[in-house]
Amino acid sequence: MTHMTIPEKGSSRETVLSNLKSMKSGDADWHSGQLFGLIYEAGQKVEKLVREAASLFLIENGLSPLTFPSLLKMENEVVSMVLSLMEGDDHTVGCTTSGGTESIFMAIKAARDWARQEKPQIKNPQMVVPVTAHPAWNKAAHYLGIDIVMTPVDDCFRADTTAMKDAIDENTIILGATAVTYPHGMVDPIPAIGTLAEEYNLWLHVDGCLGGLMLPFLRKLDYDIPAYDFRVPGVKSISADVHKYAYTPKGISTVLYRNSDLRKFQFFMYTEWPGGVYGTPSLAGGRPGSAIAAAWGVMHYLGEEGFLQLARDARSATEKLMQGIANTPPLYVLGEPDATVFAFGGKDVNIYELSARLKDCGWHAEAQHLPASLHMTVSPIHSTIVDDFLKDLGKSVVDLPASDAQDISEMAAMYGMIGTMTDRKVAREFALDYLDDLYRLKKP
Ligand SMILES: Cc1ncc(COP(=O)(O)O)c(C=O)c1O
Repeated sequence: MTHMTIPEKGSSRETVLSNLKSMKSGDADWHSGQLFGLIYEAGQKVEKLVREAASLFLIENGLSPLTFPSLLKMENEVVSMVLSLMEGDDHTVGCTTSGGTESIFMAIKAARDWARQEKPQIKNPQMVVPVTAHPAWNKAAHYLGIDIVMTPVDDCFRADTTAMKDAIDENTIILGATAVTYPHGMVDPIPAIGTLAEEYNLWLHVDGCLGGLMLPFLRKLDYDIPAYDFRVPGVKSISADVHKYAYTPKGISTVLYRNSDLRKFQFFMYTEWPGGVYGTPSLAGGRPGSAIAAAWGVMHYLGEEGFLQLARDARSATEKLMQGIANTPPLYVLGEPDATVFAFGGKDVNIYELSARLKDCGWHAEAQHLPASLHMTVSPIHSTIVDDFLKDLGKSVVDLPASDAQDISEMAAMYGMIGTMTDRKVAREFALDYLDDLYRLKKP
């Protein structure tokens, strides 16, 4: 038989739950703060609250605001609170989506349809985006039929605005910027990019998926945070994820617009369907009520005071980790990260081997390439593990092989290989085969 079939007979509730729990045992232990990415952990109390809030609306469907007006109310309130954080005014509006990728997708779709109206002469629209932007931009460009030109970043890993300006041509409709970038944790020079957007009448979308729910609190705590939000005149839309630094389970982000005329370009409406008039604000049809309730719940549970404390904890852990890494030669932090995300490399040593050794001690600092580095997304929970991590780091860094050594771990080999492949087509084929293999049921 080629495929697994649904078991002929069901199992008891106890058996199912026990099997699920035992499957979990091989997963990363994120409760202990050993994961630097994927999960944004603010401690047991916050987790308990979001679990309870989500379970109250686990089955409800956000597709129908008239059937579940509670979800509509919560959604509008969540968006409004994020708009306040982004310094929105009486005209700014937004929507929730399933995550950062969908928010970016929606903003780019809105921008494309805006350009169809504003710049009908453009038949092959193009966007200009720094190389450090999240691949969700490339995915959206691919799906939406927009060319994407990737521009370099400067020596501090922030968008090079001169390169962006040079890349603008008669087909350009969108400029992209990020606050904060995933690979290195930087805020791009958004005021300068905003000026370009105004000069050329382009749509500037700011990807605040990662930093959107962290930067406003760091600013209130008097950290020097560059402008990135609706205070920058050229910004037309911003994405900000609740399921990152608002500590909710996955499934909720926001996409915000300077006014509702711009947001209308996002909406979809079909009036001829026998099932009735069908309109949705975003890509999804049915939407989980649980994600909306968790978002609403966490905002009311933490309040500004709670968010400020968590931002303080996360930034202070980030500073201690960066300092400890800088004091561990040959390791160094890439640039001067603005918030709670950073990367570190190793001068002339194989940093991927370090990642493998850290993994042996239980730490997940994932490998990145171009340039070779390890990724650190820091959550409030990490304030409890700084010393333990630095101790294991100190041990693991001893006698690292040189960056060109052959005898390195499998992961090192894979990242090293992809990172150094000059033929990107080969790298792409390699990664596609890997993905194809990953999503296949393995025979026991
Ligand atoms: C800067 C940035 N933008 C967008 C995304 C995509 O978000 P999601 O994984 O929720 O789709 C991420 C994810 O890490 C990100 O860091």
